[in-house]
Amino acid sequence: MEDNALKIVIVGKGGREHALARALADSPRPLELFACPGSDGISEFAAPVSGMKDPAALVKWMKEQRIDLCVAGEEAWLALGLADACAKANIPCWGPLQEAAQLESSKIYAKEFMTRHQVPTGGFEVVDNIDAARAAVSSYPTVLKYNGLAAGKGVAVCTDEEGVEEFLDLVFTQNTFGKDRVFVEEFLAGREVSVICAVSGGEYLYFTPARDYKRLGDGDAGPNTGGMGAVASRQLLDADLLAKIEREIIIPTVNGLEKDELNYKGFLYFGIILTEQGPKVLEFNCRFGDPEAQAVLPIVEGDFAGFLLEGAKGTLKPKMLQFDEGWSLCLVKASAGYPQSSRSGDVISGLDQVGSARVYHAGTKKNEAGDFETNGGRVLAVSDRAPSLSEVREKAYSALDVISFDGEQCRRDIGSLHFEDVES
Ligand code: GLY
Repeated sequence: MEDNALKIVIVGKGGREHALARALADSPRPLELFACPGSDGISEFAAPVSGMKDPAALVKWMKEQRIDLCVAGEEAWLALGLADACAKANIPCWGPLQEAAQLESSKIYAKEFMTRHQVPTGGFEVVDNIDAARAAVSSYPTVLKYNGLAAGKGVAVCTDEEGVEEFLDLVFTQNTFGKDRVFVEEFLAGREVSVICAVSGGEYLYFTPARDYKRLGDGDAGPNTGGMGAVASRQLLDADLLAKIEREIIIPTVNGLEKDELNYKGFLYFGIILTEQGPKVLEFNCRFGDPEAQAVLPIVEGDFAGFLLEGAKGTLKPKMLQFDEGWSLCLVKASAGYPQSSRSGDVISGLDQVGSARVYHAGTKKNEAGDFETNGGRVLAVSDRAPSLSEVREKAYSALDVISFDGEQCRRDIGSLHFEDVES
């Protein structure tokens, strides 16, 4: 390892963190990468750091190791105060302080922020018991959201009373996600798009827009998942629409962060719906999307490590990055039983036969024989890029199909459903 190598730790263990590790490793500068806790798959680029039970322990380790930059992948560590602990130790952290991380960890905080700063979003009512929730539902479809973190599973779009009762039972009777309140939200119809910005010092840079596919089955059927794939391209939004999103959503949000003196540094994810009344925010996340990262980051070029370091120190340097103008597709394979459960121990074959595609590990581990096997719900994602949507579909699905394991589940319509009008 070169003496002047920049030492970076990525916090997390999933496909998004594997994509972050790869994007960092591709930076044209000497680097020494770690991931906490990381995984056998991520260790291709970043050495695992295990046994860290909270931000204080991790920051102690960072100081001992003379880490130059901490990159937050998972939201849970930010909600626990990772960036605050880094700030106290003078370690640059790419990820917001605990207060601002409530934009993701508390939907009420996010809605109040949007109301305060005139960021367009759906109407809502907050309830803290089952009867109040029932009373707040006035029409169908209706959207119910658990207020706290729920690993992407705390949202239900209910088309009837049965769906409402099922979700309320999960939240208020079974306490599946914890003991927080529930939002009853106006249902908004339209195309969805994820826009992830890098934010620092009151400035922002938006990355290539993306769309994720949350349902398990083709045609957006079946239960919600953490995401079964994503498509990314600058061509997802025309210039006028992107300018409108920037003017009506991104700029008021970034200005709001400044007015509220939140000193935001990190990725800010805008989950946006394009309604007939204009674009509205469905949710904020205070980190990159998953699986959007596995689609967007492969088409980022330049000094990603330098960009995040400067951003974490308080200055955004957009010229350090370039974005490919083509298409990128990420396809997820999940294990048997997902999302209700997940089966471990199925050996994965074909990982070394994917050609130009990238494989990002999420729920895998190496067995004693040194082979990767399933170890979680969403097992891995395959990503590829191409100038056109039809080419990228062809390339990415060909790569996906050489990988196999017993009980695997995937969708066949990623990049075609919702993109029927795109000329290939
Ligand atoms: N893809 C949605 C999320 O990352 O929360």
